[in-house]
Amino acid sequence: KRLILIGPPGSGKGTQSPVIKDEYCLCHLATGDMLRAAVAAKTPLGIKAKEAMDKGELVSDDLVVGIIDEAMKKPSCQKGFILDGFPRTVVQAQKLDEMLERKGTKLDKVLNFAIDDAILEERITGRWIHPSSGRTYHTKFAPPKVPGVDDVTGEPLIQRKDDTAAVLKSRLEAFHRQTEPVIDYYSKKGLVANLHAEKPPKEVTTEVEKVLS
Ligand code: AP5
Ligand code: ZN
Repeated sequence: KRLILIGPPGSGKGTQSPVIKDEYCLCHLATGDMLRAAVAAKTPLGIKAKEAMDKGELVSDDLVVGIIDEAMKKPSCQKGFILDGFPRTVVQAQKLDEMLERKGTKLDKVLNFAIDDAILEERITGRWIHPSSGRTYHTKFAPPKVPGVDDVTGEPLIQRKDDTAAVLKSRLEAFHRQTEPVIDYYSKKGLVANLHAEKPPKEVTTEVEKVLS
């Protein structure tokens, strides 16, 4: 399967991705995760991306298209992939179409994590992450066994720098202005499946399984 996950910050893309990935043996490419790794490693790419990310604005199309183009060459991505957080602009969607056309492949589905903005602040400000594995927790909705500690490795959890109420506002603005048009772009191609992303994680997973079966 070749899937795209679209939804606002905190809608559950990163929570559902590992489940879908394991069930269908797909590679998971999350531009946000890749950019955060580049920022942490202070690579030239990370240095360019940091300012926009800290403000909750989108990084330039050229940078993210370059990352995805490179990442999709991995052997593990040849059978199928989940794109989490990409494409986020219509330009990125058009570039992706060109990339897939060159490979002679097509998208199967675009999963739209539809959810009301009002729910997202609590989700975002309560999120804790285990950076090396990408495991995600929530103080209220998915607490770790020991607060601040990863269940599997015992390593410390961190909070994302952009997970504040103030930066969330800019991220939501960017979503409505730049990313919602991408949903229309794929609706016209008949690829969009709408999920009820406000439901508990397991119920969202069940909806995804129905769409993909
Ligand atoms: P990115 O990392 O993609 O962030 P985002 O889109 O803002 O999405 P999040 O990761 O915040 O949300 P999520 O949907 O994954 O939520 P999660 O499942 O963790 O991008 C970060 C930045 O990088 C961007 O701002 C931009 O600067 C840059 N960037 C990235 N891609 C780009 C691109 N293509 N172009 C340009 N710039 C780009 O869930 C959140 C919390 O809620 C967790 O604590 C979780 O436990 C909890 N939760 C999840 N589901 C449920 C549920 N069903 N019920 C209750 N709680 C739940
Ligand atoms: Zn995410």
